[in-house]
Amino acid sequence: MGNKIISFNDVVKQYDDEKVLKKVSFDIEQGKFYTLLGPSGCGKTTILRILAGFTDASSGDVYFDGQRINDIPANKRQVNTVFQDYALFPHMNVFDNVAFGLKIKKVSKKEIEKKVKDALRMVQLPGYETREISEMSGGQRQRVAIARAIVNEPKVLLLDEPLSALDLKLRTDMQYELRELQRRLGITFIFVTHDQEEALAMSDEIFVMNKGNIIQSGTPVDIYDEPINHFVASFVGESNIVSGTMIEDNLVEFVGKRFECVDSGMRKNEPVEIVLRPEDLTITTKELGKLVVTVDTQLFRGVHYEILCTDEQGNEWMVHSTRKAREGTEVGLIFEPEDIHVMRFNESEEEFDARLESYEE
Ligand SMILES: Nc1ncnc2c1ncn2[C@@H]1O[C@H](COP(=O)(O)OP(=O)(O)O)[C@@H](O)[C@H]1O
Ligand SMILES: [Mg+2]
Repeated sequence: MGNKIISFNDVVKQYDDEKVLKKVSFDIEQGKFYTLLGPSGCGKTTILRILAGFTDASSGDVYFDGQRINDIPANKRQVNTVFQDYALFPHMNVFDNVAFGLKIKKVSKKEIEKKVKDALRMVQLPGYETREISEMSGGQRQRVAIARAIVNEPKVLLLDEPLSALDLKLRTDMQYELRELQRRLGITFIFVTHDQEEALAMSDEIFVMNKGNIIQSGTPVDIYDEPINHFVASFVGESNIVSGTMIEDNLVEFVGKRFECVDSGMRKNEPVEIVLRPEDLTITTKELGKLVVTVDTQLFRGVHYEILCTDEQGNEWMVHSTRKAREGTEVGLIFEPEDIHVMRFNESEEEFDARLESYEE
C-alpha cells in the first residue's frame, strides 16, 4: 500500500428521502490517476463536492492526509476543482483568470507572475496571458481552467467531466495531455467521466459506480478482464453475457455445452452468468467451433469487423474479427478457457457485499 492521501469511510449523502451515496468507502493514494466511472446520476459529482467541501456528508468520515476534514471549509482544503463548464470569468483575460486565486491569497505580484507563467507553460499555452477568454477555442478554455486549478499547487486535482464538451479529436488529444500533465506534476488526479473508453485509457485505478455505490475498483485491466457483475461487464466495454451453470470447479455449462474454464470456488450447479468479450472470440468453421452460430449482420469498424451472430438458443453474440464473415451462413466460434469470465447470478446485495469483503482480505 502506497501513501494514502484520502479516505472515505461509510460516507452517506441524503437529500430529503433519497440516498444518493450509500455508505461509500475508498482510499486514494498519492500521485495516482483515479477515475470515477458510472452512468449519469450515480453520485460522481456528489463525491467530488464532498471532497472539495462544497457540500457536507450526511454521515461518515472524510480524511485527508490522516486528518478528518468533514468540518474544514472549502478554501482551507488542498484540493482544486476543474468544472465541466470551466467556470471561467468571461470578462477577464487569461492572466487574471489564472491569477485570481493567488490574488485573493495576497501572494506578491512578482510571485504571481512567475506562477501564472509556469502554469500556462504546463498546459501548453505559453505567452497567452493577455488573451481574452472570448477569443479562445473550447480546448484552449479547458486548458485555462486547468491552469487556474494547478497554479494553486493543490495536492489533489478534481476534474468533473472536463472533456465532455469537446469534439472527439480534441478530446483524444486532451486525454493524452491530461495523462502527461498528471505524470509531470506527480499529484493525485480524481477524474470523473461516464465514458468507459476514456476511463480505461487514462486511469491507474477506476472506481465503477452505480446508484450511489462503488461496485468495483481496480486497474483498467482488472475491471475489463474480471468484471464483478452484470452491471460492470455491460457498462465497461462490449460484452456477450449469457446465463449458465457452474458444474464444478473449472467446468461451466452454457448454450447446452460444457467448457473448461479457470474459475472456481462456487457451489456445484450454481447458476451463473458468462461474459465473453467480442475480441476473445475467433470465427472458424462450423465443424471446429466450440459454439455454432449464424451470422446475422456485420459492420466494418476500421480496425475490425463487428459481426453479430445468433446461437441455437437465440442468444446474440458479437465478434470482433479482422476477417469478414458471410451473412446468413453458419460458422463456429472458438475461445480459450481463460476468456470465459464467470459471474454469480442474481446475487443479493448482502451476498455481494460479503463477497466484496472477502476480496479485500
Ligand atoms: N442539491 C441536490 N438536491 C437533491 N438531489 C440532488 C442534489 N444534487 C444532486 N442530487 C441528486 O443526486 C444524484 C447524484 O447526482 P450527481 O452526483 O450529480 O450524479 P453524477 O455526477 O454521477 O451524474 C442524482 O440523482 C441527483 O439528482
Ligand atoms: Mg456529474
